[in-house]
Amino acid sequence: MASHRVMPKARVAVLLSGRGSNFAALLFASRAPDCPYEIVMAISDIADAPGLDIARAEEVPVFTPPADNKAAFEVAVNRLLVHAKIDVVALAGFMRILSASFVERWEGRILNIHPSLLPKYKGLRTHARALIDGETHSGCSVHLVTAKLDDGPVLGQTPVAIMPGEDVEALANRVLIAEHELYPRVLAAFCRR
Ligand code: GRF
Repeated sequence: MASHRVMPKARVAVLLSGRGSNFAALLFASRAPDCPYEIVMAISDIADAPGLDIARAEEVPVFTPPADNKAAFEVAVNRLLVHAKIDVVALAGFMRILSASFVERWEGRILNIHPSLLPKYKGLRTHARALIDGETHSGCSVHLVTAKLDDGPVLGQTPVAIMPGEDVEALANRVLIAEHELYPRVLAAFCRR
């Protein structure tokens, strides 16, 4: 009989601070039988982040280490990741900047989604800035996290056309649709490498 080797799924932790729609997209994609990753936990610096309610409802373990002291928060997060044998960390609307030492500890294994076509519009208010500049396109990028903000190698991007007269909210909503398609796909490809 032909031997059939089943690859173990990559163990992913998601860090989030807010709404959690990208967390949900990653989680629901992971339910496909051939998805190469599983979401093992959600971690947040914000104890009442709405995204955590989604995680709890979906029976994903949730952790909220105290975040008033950045160094102590990162020690706690690192401990959680090591203990759960996490392979990949996915930042999904995580609003803290991780320290260089934390990023180095997990180098090449932290992904982030950013709502712009990097290297354009790093940081905040990406859609407003793209509109002010009269760009024809906005979009989203998934990139590896390095110690420099929104700067690591881009793993995937989706351009989104800006429509005449549209406002920040309408553009952000449409880019979010693209985010929800891009992030699970890029994370899956990353985990298959
Ligand atoms: C997304 O637009 C993401 O690109 C950015 O923060 C937002 C998070 O939204 N980093 P959500 O919490 O995933 O709904």
